[in-house]
Amino acid sequence: MIPKFSSLLFTIASTYSLFAPGIYASPAKHDVVHPGASCAKFILPVTATAQNAAVNAPTVNSNIDAINWVWEFSTWSHNATARITGQPTVSGTYGIGAQLCIPTSGTKKEILQIATHGLGFDKRYWDAEVQPDQYSYVRAALKAGYSILTYDRLGTGASDKADAYTVVQAPLQLELLAAISKLARSGELAQAAQPNFSSGTTLPTFTKVVQVGHSYGSMIQTGLLSKYPSLVDGAIQTGWIFGPHTITNAQPVFGWQFARENDPKKFGDRPSGYIVVGTKSSMQQLFLSKQRLDPKLLDYAYDIRAPGTVGEGQPSISAIGKPALNYTGPLQYFLGEYDFLCTGDCNGQFNETIQRGLYPKASALEFHIQPETAHGTTLHKNATAGYQVMFDFLARNGL
Ligand SMILES: *[C@@H]1O[C@H](CO)[C@@H](O)[C@H](O)[C@H]1NC(C)=O
Ligand SMILES: *[C@@H]1O[C@H](CO)[C@@H](O)[C@H](O)[C@H]1NC(C)=O
Ligand SMILES: *[C@@H]1O[C@H](CO)[C@@H](O)[C@H](O)[C@H]1NC(C)=O
Ligand SMILES: *[C@@H]1O[C@H](CO)[C@@H](O)[C@H](O)[C@H]1NC(C)=O
Ligand SMILES: *[C@@H]1O[C@H](CO)[C@@H](O)[C@H](O)[C@H]1NC(C)=O
Repeated sequence: MIPKFSSLLFTIASTYSLFAPGIYASPAKHDVVHPGASCAKFILPVTATAQNAAVNAPTVNSNIDAINWVWEFSTWSHNATARITGQPTVSGTYGIGAQLCIPTSGTKKEILQIATHGLGFDKRYWDAEVQPDQYSYVRAALKAGYSILTYDRLGTGASDKADAYTVVQAPLQLELLAAISKLARSGELAQAAQPNFSSGTTLPTFTKVVQVGHSYGSMIQTGLLSKYPSLVDGAIQTGWIFGPHTITNAQPVFGWQFARENDPKKFGDRPSGYIVVGTKSSMQQLFLSKQRLDPKLLDYAYDIRAPGTVGEGQPSISAIGKPALNYTGPLQYFLGEYDFLCTGDCNGQFNETIQRGLYPKASALEFHIQPETAHGTTLHKNATAGYQVMFDFLARNGL
């Protein structure tokens, strides 16, 4: 059952990665200040090696190319996997834009949460500047006592804008997350961040690491739990699960555009193959529900949209979507009830037996459906009540 399921999951996963992409007016502008905490932004050099995929695929240098590319990879009768021609090794040291926040008097500050954003956004997804008490996941985590690292996945935000075809792909994103998790455990992350904290800030030694993902970030996390289970003490996957209606409608809703053509001012530095959710309407369709829509957050989400790459949307060697047979920590699935990922209704859309088969040794496996919320779980009214569900889960499991 597992191999069959996992190949199905892989197919879905690689298809899914076609779909989500997003930057704020100026990335440097993001400077929300959290009371009772210190934060620092810095560039973390991260070294990683991965087996990416060589894919025979068209290039994307215009909006017209973007839609043609979608057609190549989303039409049901096309075999995207058949376009993989090789498995080249990609290796390098990449600058990764990061923000580390430490609560001043947090009871859990030795527990570091590492949050990985999905396609469509950069690290600001976790840290809304609009009404941060209602929407910022970073602020909520700090209030709950945790330390938290948010970072720009390679290709987004302040991170390097590497080659969109050959470099910025899921396998490398997975190895980068593994490398960042190792740096957190060895103390090198704190060391790298220290100069960017205000003087006198004492950084804790991180003894435990909790991974939190959104969407494509959750899919990268599945690869981490599978390949590097010992790096993870607890995991929460938001906006990602496999079920019978997993993104049957996805491709049309993205409205991909070539980033530089979409907004030459914001994305003038994005090379060939960087694509972005093209319009505010596509942003709404993808990420927000009508029931819990706050128009300010729709504006904000569109403002902070961040381009992803075609390399993330094309199939790759199955780095993600494999069962995590050796992961022994707790895992919570946190789903918006009306997520487009479930084609609009996540009720009854996953089989717990199959999920347990993917994580047979997990110490706890829980499912939470956040009412009337869509894919962008941090962008809806009542988001903070959802965050509490996540923190309660961690606390019940000793984290
Ligand atoms: C972090 O600190 C270094 C050294 O003081 C400085 O050069 C750099 O600009 C800072 N980075 C950010 C993102 O503020
Ligand atoms: C798609 O192509 C792959 C690789 O060539 C092949 O293994 C697979 O059977 C094909 N799938 C279908 C449905 O034809
Ligand atoms: C799980 O751990 C065992 C024992 O360390 C190892 O032999 C096996 O390859 C691991 N399985 C996976 C899927 O990583
Ligand atoms: C869940 O999957 C298992 C294993 O494939 C199957 O036996 C069971 O009938 C499924 N449950 C539901 C409610 O579909
Ligand atoms: C807000 O979210 C919490 C946590 O999921 C839930 O218990 C509560 O019912 C939600 N409130 C509303 C009005 O839906």
